[in-house]
Amino acid sequence: MVAHAGVRNRPIGVFDSGVGGMTVLHELLVALPHEDFLYLGDTARFPYGDRTREELQAFCAEIGEELVARGAKLLVIACNSATAAALSDLQERFASAGIDVIGVVTPESQAAVVATHTGRVGLLATPATVGSAAYERAIASADAHVRLTSVACPDLAPIIQNGFPFDEQVMATVRGYCRPLAEAQVDTVILGCTHYPLVRPMLQRMLGPRVTLIAPGAAVARRVECALEARGLSSDRATEGDYRFLCTGDPEVFRAIGTRFMQMPLTSVEQVELLPAGSRSADLVAGES
Ligand code: DGL
Repeated sequence: MVAHAGVRNRPIGVFDSGVGGMTVLHELLVALPHEDFLYLGDTARFPYGDRTREELQAFCAEIGEELVARGAKLLVIACNSATAAALSDLQERFASAGIDVIGVVTPESQAAVVATHTGRVGLLATPATVGSAAYERAIASADAHVRLTSVACPDLAPIIQNGFPFDEQVMATVRGYCRPLAEAQVDTVILGCTHYPLVRPMLQRMLGPRVTLIAPGAAVARRVECALEARGLSSDRATEGDYRFLCTGDPEVFRAIGTRFMQMPLTSVEQVELLPAGSRSADLVAGES
């Protein structure tokens, strides 16, 4: 079934705690040039990496409802911590409206088991993601013989998001995160936080040139494309789509760091106040055909 143009040309909602999800948005913009995107960075509540599962589930429900109320036809959780805590929750919440929710953990895990030759895979991620054991489960279901070594990196996303100078102390901290992976002799490392691809060269240098780094963007973009096609929801435009930004913190700070990471202009950045989940279900616009 193909939905009418009004629905097909609605935006894809993408969100993260901050600017890390732009590493996923980059791939989406390349793979789906005719789609519109609405990106939300929950910068007022950054970082997500030390939040509890319950907090992250509540944040994701609020953000999902905001994006859907603004017309999103599909949601991408471009944040590993949020995916690990709330993917199934959000999928259930929007299933009856016919809105697919796509996360980053499964696509990355599947890519990692395909990439490894030794069966030894490493994971760098936030404490919330490592503590959830979501990657252990996803890797085990993709290939039960692959061994995962996980390292929680409490400081790395804040270092990237806040643009800390990459001084010797930061380098020593990041080297400390990489050390257990070298000791475990992994040949593949999952960048299990969407902020980390922004410092890919530094991580590749520390881990060594023979280690394959896995980031979720391309695999997520493929899934989004398939999901839209399956529901007849791909944009029917021949022209380039647009992309807009929402953030919960200071929009000028978001614009400044976002422009650096997007390497494209952030023309529209709007500050948004999120409402408690469930407080405006009548406004949900999706599901119309
Ligand atoms: N980009 C995020 C993730 O993928 C969040 C980092 C954070 O907010 O701590 O986990």
